[in-house]
Amino acid sequence: MCGIIGIAGHGAVTERLLDGLKRLEYRGYDSSGIAVLTKGQLERRRAEGKIKNLEVRIGNEPLDGQIGIAHTRWATHGVPNEINAHPHQSGRVAVVHNGIIENFLELRESLAGERTFETETDTEVVAHLMDIELAKGHSPRDAFATTLKQLKGAYAFGLIIDENPNEIYCARAGSPLALGIGDKEHYLGSDAMAMAQLTNKLIYLEEGDWAIIRPEDYEIFDENDTPVERETTIISGGPAMAEKGNFPHFMLKEIYEQPDTVTNTLTNYLDDLRQRPDMPAELDFKDFDRVIIIACGTAYYAGMVAKYWFEQVAELAVDIDVASEFRYRRPVLDKRSLFIAVSQSGETADTLAALRYCKDNGLKTAALVNVMTSTMAREADIALPIKAGPEIGVASTKAFTSQLTALAALSLAAAVARGKLSRAEDIRLTAELTSLPRKITDALELDGHIKGIASELAKASSAFYLGRGSQVPIALEGALKLKEISYIHAEGYAAGELKHGPIALIEDGTPVIILAPYDELFEKTISNLQEVASRGARITLITDSVGAEAAGQMAADMIVIPTSDPFIAPIMTTIAVQLLSYHAAVHLGTDVDQPRNLAKSVTVE
Ligand code: F6R
Repeated sequence: MCGIIGIAGHGAVTERLLDGLKRLEYRGYDSSGIAVLTKGQLERRRAEGKIKNLEVRIGNEPLDGQIGIAHTRWATHGVPNEINAHPHQSGRVAVVHNGIIENFLELRESLAGERTFETETDTEVVAHLMDIELAKGHSPRDAFATTLKQLKGAYAFGLIIDENPNEIYCARAGSPLALGIGDKEHYLGSDAMAMAQLTNKLIYLEEGDWAIIRPEDYEIFDENDTPVERETTIISGGPAMAEKGNFPHFMLKEIYEQPDTVTNTLTNYLDDLRQRPDMPAELDFKDFDRVIIIACGTAYYAGMVAKYWFEQVAELAVDIDVASEFRYRRPVLDKRSLFIAVSQSGETADTLAALRYCKDNGLKTAALVNVMTSTMAREADIALPIKAGPEIGVASTKAFTSQLTALAALSLAAAVARGKLSRAEDIRLTAELTSLPRKITDALELDGHIKGIASELAKASSAFYLGRGSQVPIALEGALKLKEISYIHAEGYAAGELKHGPIALIEDGTPVIILAPYDELFEKTISNLQEVASRGARITLITDSVGAEAAGQMAADMIVIPTSDPFIAPIMTTIAVQLLSYHAAVHLGTDVDQPRNLAKSVTVE
């Protein structure tokens, strides 16, 4: 949520800051801005909308310098316009900020007689506080330390000062921030992606840390203002990771990457030689009577599927909740529970808070994440990677199938550890998992056919997705994907639940997408299909060849996915719903990779 990049260098910084902002655009894109020190003088440019608008602004009114900070915004306080865009300036100080200053109203009130506020943001107060400290004659270092002590909330900052030509000040409390080490240059970024073109040598600031970076060196302090050393991390993979290649959108590229990304996940969790799940030594499912899975959005739906797997295959009870509810409902926790946070970014504020809550209450915690340098990966007792590679499209696709694959492998490991699976069944289900990359490749062949169906779906104003069993979460995910990128209203439902109310919304031509691979629940789902078909719904049935045969002519459209065991069927139907929403959105001409109002990493509550 919002992205920060800063450079304390020797060469010109504007172009490089703009490049960093483009890499961060996935975190928010309703406005952006840059502030630099040109011969010690502070100058800034800002623009509403995407980074390209800022480029145009800078083209018309150039600025450059050797020290600079930049920001791309996802609005929390104040409408997304140029006035509210970062950097915010007061007197000598310009600041970029991620997160929320919770006591900003209080602070604003206290400065009301003394200062005029230009914006509605919570951030501006930080620039005023710092400027006031400098005006009192304090050194920048003391002024920054004093300013930080007045703030409550979750934040990451970058800050520069007029007539202080050599330094960027930065701080982290709650929102991630890393320093980058270059060749006689130092950087600042809200994640590794921001600095991918500049360096792969990073230092992740810890909670409460603040730092001063200069071209030639840097200093880090903890929350008590004591100088500290923090570990340097070398990030593998290069800048090329974030390119679109021949695909028109990152989302489509990421959908097509899934045979590879699922292979990466499997390689991490399956031991080829023993043909069974290979788990981190510190994770022994014999130690637990219950699993608590907490996540948000798409990651939550992955957790919902995992509940079916853990309970059916491993006979291990699973509690699942959305993180924003879990953390405030004072859940009853049992020490023999394993807490698993599922998160692509590893930074989602609510999921992170739930992890901390369970850790503080003495539970063993695991974080199933894509970004292994994330806060969740670092704070959980066990970091479980999904290895999907950087996901740039705001709508999660390959991270979801990798989360599912990893959770499926974990459920098999749990079943084996708890003695609930015969060796033969273990081998059979493991082989099913191993067949996923091939079957996903086959499912991607359906792209052209699905595109045709999506052009019909794109005409609708509302759609339903129905499934039973482990297809219910995929129905929810299909509806979410359609909503977020095509802006068509969609609902996912347990197929048996429709007649308890929502069926009233079905009218002539309402699209209903039914997920029904041929399994023990197939007949029941088909009855539900008939209920909506007889009320005029236009049915798209996602099934396998046996299901297609059994369903006959009941559906207007059919998407026949490769036949697979019910264990992996939710991963297979996912490919179909991803392509369906992608093509519907392209048909409607929406901004597929950066849908309105959304951000990739939600680091505010
Ligand atoms: C939807 C989507 C979001 C995320 C959610 C959690 O396509 O991507 O619903 O799944 O914001 O994000 P992470 O997984 O980073 O915690």
